[in-house]
Amino acid sequence: MTESWTPPKGIDPDRPSPARVYDCYLGGTHNFAADRAVAAQAVAAMPQLPEIMRANRAFLRRAVRYIAGEGVDQFLDLGAGIPTEGTVHEVARQVRPDARVVYVDVDPVAVIHSRSILAGDPNTEVVQANLLDSGAILTDPAVTALLDLDRPVGLLMVAVLHFLPDSPALFGALEHYRRALAPGSYLVISHATAESEPVPTAKVSDLYTKVSQPLVPRSRSDLSHLLEGWELVEPGLSQGADWRPDPGDPPPGDVGKLATLAAVARRP
Ligand SMILES: C[S@@+](CC[C@H](N)C(=O)[O-])C[C@H]1O[C@@H](n2cnc3c(N)ncnc32)[C@H](O)[C@@H]1O
Repeated sequence: MTESWTPPKGIDPDRPSPARVYDCYLGGTHNFAADRAVAAQAVAAMPQLPEIMRANRAFLRRAVRYIAGEGVDQFLDLGAGIPTEGTVHEVARQVRPDARVVYVDVDPVAVIHSRSILAGDPNTEVVQANLLDSGAILTDPAVTALLDLDRPVGLLMVAVLHFLPDSPALFGALEHYRRALAPGSYLVISHATAESEPVPTAKVSDLYTKVSQPLVPRSRSDLSHLLEGWELVEPGLSQGADWRPDPGDPPPGDVGKLATLAAVARRP
């Protein structure tokens, strides 16, 4: 198949990346043959994956709308991915037209695309960084110029923490973000879980681990541990599709519903 776009300089199109594989599930065009091959294998193991990803995006939109409705007008989106319909700044600005958003991703393709789409928007910034480098992110001039960390921030880690196995670096970074953000800040997470569909989830995890980076599903109790120090907003840690569903959201099937856990929590 002919590529619809040329790989930006320095990017290896033959090495699959989670950002571009995710773009495949969502029907995007910012992916290469190697990414599409992984997406096809993953969908063969778990046919509901595109539905799960669409439900994840719908959860992200509802969570951002909720937080903006609580008065938060600045967002730090870690593991933001390749911009797709209903990006964080678009959704936040429906509620807070002055909303400012910093998008962070480790993947150069996600960063290049975000920069080209957001060029000329003075209220968004894009930073290439590993979310484990919390010190570097929180002091990055692009972050400190746009976000006032003395005021509440919406911190988003949506469909990204499952790429980070348990480690002192992960726990340290999560603690650092929590302490650095002002009371009244919010954390949004969504995360793969193997609780309902262990066999297909294990197949998808193995595939990611072989071709790009480990994918680590977590249980409800693992996630409760990652959320320590935050106060869960009702309905708490839930299946993503059950977190304050909108009447207009397409109801996912059972597996699509169960494969992801999600939460919004407030910094007391
Ligand atoms: C499945 S996508 C999720 C995108 C978006 N948050 C969403 O839910 O629609 C995961 C993203 O996390 C990024 N990512 C993975 N590990 C990361 C890390 N350690 N630091 C920052 N970004 C990371 C990937 O490059 C990818 O763009």
